[in-house]
Amino acid sequence: MAIEQLNGAKNTAGNAKAVEDYLRIVDVRKEFDGFVAVEDTDLSIRKGEIFALLGGSGCGKSTLLRCLGGFEKPTSGKIYLDGQIMNDLPPYERPINMMFQSYALFPHMTVEQNIAFGLKQDGLSKDAIKKRVDEMLALVQLGKLAKRKPHQLSGGQQQRVALARSLAKGPKLLLLDEPMGALDKKLRSQMQLELVNIIETSGVTCVMVTHDQEEAMTMATRIALMDSGRIRQVGTPDEIYESPTSRFAAEFIGSVNMFQGKVDEDMADYVTILSPSLDTAIYVGHGISGYEGQEVSFGVRPEKVSISKEEPDQRYNKARGKIEDIAYFGSHSVFHVRLPSGYKFMANFANQQRWASEGMTWGDEVWVSWGDNEGVVLTS
Ligand SMILES: Nc1ncnc2c1ncn2[C@@H]1O[C@H](COP(=O)(O)OP(=O)(O)OP(=O)(O)O)[C@@H](O)[C@H]1O
Ligand SMILES: [Mg+2]
Repeated sequence: MAIEQLNGAKNTAGNAKAVEDYLRIVDVRKEFDGFVAVEDTDLSIRKGEIFALLGGSGCGKSTLLRCLGGFEKPTSGKIYLDGQIMNDLPPYERPINMMFQSYALFPHMTVEQNIAFGLKQDGLSKDAIKKRVDEMLALVQLGKLAKRKPHQLSGGQQQRVALARSLAKGPKLLLLDEPMGALDKKLRSQMQLELVNIIETSGVTCVMVTHDQEEAMTMATRIALMDSGRIRQVGTPDEIYESPTSRFAAEFIGSVNMFQGKVDEDMADYVTILSPSLDTAIYVGHGISGYEGQEVSFGVRPEKVSISKEEPDQRYNKARGKIEDIAYFGSHSVFHVRLPSGYKFMANFANQQRWASEGMTWGDEVWVSWGDNEGVVLTS
């Protein structure tokens, strides 16, 4: 049987709703002795998605994932997968597989025996098992290493075996908790793309947990950003990066220059904000339906900021300061510019040509500036 068929990747029912709401988390809450690890949470995850739960340590990511796998029982709420309620099913009866961080490979079994394990338990015929194991070996490109034992494999190869074993039975849902946790940094970024490839080829729907924003941005079709047991924002990587809806989201993902201020004027097509950190007003090219004097934050990412020796020809959104630090990152440099207010402003400079930073160096007085639509106003 082809992998796609096993995973039911084709939506034969032709029901768009079933695809949209393939995995439904409805009002799920998890308490441990009165401590709320996951607050009432609603999420709909589409068929074939790679969905990341992202957040700092202790925010409840693993707890929510374990509720999906059946390793934790929600205090309240319901979980539906492909229209079927999961709540009362034990982990082994759910059409779900969870790949653990340590991979939990059987050390005395070969790669192919590891992959075959679950299929054998299900009592499949020898031929059917062989066929499926071969498909899985091809999927993770480990055919040549089928006879090896786990200790004869690199970390990345072990991870692919674990993934092949998780996918062998064609689960409807794959759960990954910090899948890169055991790998070093270089291997991580390589495996991130490999994993995405394998998951997409298999067509399985995947929910993964990570505390690493880069990993979530690289791998996920959508991200739920979590904080203290609550989901703060759900969106595609670029939605969360470009349009964070809270200060928390803006600061969690990427770097940002954040200003506290008060609304000065709020019109249909613009808003101005006064911040004690800046001498000129912040001008944003859309209204926010707020009110005069309202406390807001304004965030602008370093790559949206220009840096120049000459004063930019604009009335707002600029500041003069002194270069205090330059961090070189190969493709770009980050200039840290100290403003008279004491605020340290970060501005990226793309290193398109060698030595092209217009001779700007430590101690120089420079201007930083940004366009009317380059930043976000945050009211929470
Ligand atoms: N079995 C348990 N009993 C009591 N408290 C628990 C239990 N499991 C988790 N918690 C608590 O629930 C909160 C969320 O834990 P969880 O493991 O979901 O965090 P996490 O987001 O996965 O963090 P990390 O990134 O560190 O793995 C933590 O405060 C944790 O101490
Ligand atoms: Mg965890």
